[in-house]
Amino acid sequence: MRVKSIFSSNLFRDRVAIVTGGATGIGAAIANELCYLGCNVMIASRNTERLKAAANAMNNNTELRGEASYVKCNIRSESDVKSLTKTTLKRFGKIDYLVNNGGGQFISPAEHISVKGWNAVIETNMTGTFYCSKQVYLDWMSKNGGAIVNISADNWRGIPGMAHTSAARAGVDNLTKTLSLEWVENNVRINSIASGVIDSSTSTARANYADPKIFDSTIKQIPASRLGLPEEISSCVCFLLSPAAEYITGETLKVDGGGSLYGSFLDAILKHTRRSGQPATSPK
Ligand code: ADE
Repeated sequence: MRVKSIFSSNLFRDRVAIVTGGATGIGAAIANELCYLGCNVMIASRNTERLKAAANAMNNNTELRGEASYVKCNIRSESDVKSLTKTTLKRFGKIDYLVNNGGGQFISPAEHISVKGWNAVIETNMTGTFYCSKQVYLDWMSKNGGAIVNISADNWRGIPGMAHTSAARAGVDNLTKTLSLEWVENNVRINSIASGVIDSSTSTARANYADPKIFDSTIKQIPASRLGLPEEISSCVCFLLSPAAEYITGETLKVDGGGSLYGSFLDAILKHTRRSGQPATSPK
């Protein structure tokens, strides 16, 4: 991956970050930019092969100044999350930043979402964010300060066709506010990014599986007339983690090309779910 950044090359020198879901898509862009800026990065997800490939690619990229390492971790499991923070502290000695990026959902009319599917999406997107935030706080940030950024989604007008993730993202938005108040005394800042539709390898693959036209019709609904890029989320994460955002906490920043002010890519999903009446994809 070719990495560029508008930030000063030593911005995060000798800092340490955990990026969940850091092997692919938006998470990989975040991990690469942090590393480019001198940060040591622990990437975490469920797929060891992908983690290994991503960490190797980062460590072989001579343009990246930080080191990459990986831990297999299901963020839905509290014990996995405990070993994620333990391994990070053992490997890099501290945890300055946490990026709660790991998440996932599937398209389905609400009435067809099974209890298993509902719980899986809530646990991944909301509970996983809570487990990781709580654990880095207990193990490091409560005594040493730090910054957390949650990668969430534009859900201001609901997300028809994805009731589970819309509810989970609303939970993350509120959790961001509550944790920012509870932990402000300990110099821990927590912010979120509400991402619009991003053209990442993972999101395109999933949406195309559901209906190849979903992304095409989305573009008409975005004032910027294009999908966002993973790097456009990553640069905002770097800003929010950096000292430039020292006075920002409890905030959710929309990064969506104006999409939340105007149309909705959800029209396409809504049409798809109404037409088929069936889930387009199912949870693993
Ligand atoms: N990315 C998507 N789902 C995840 C999970 N359960 N754990 C870690 N990363 C993930």
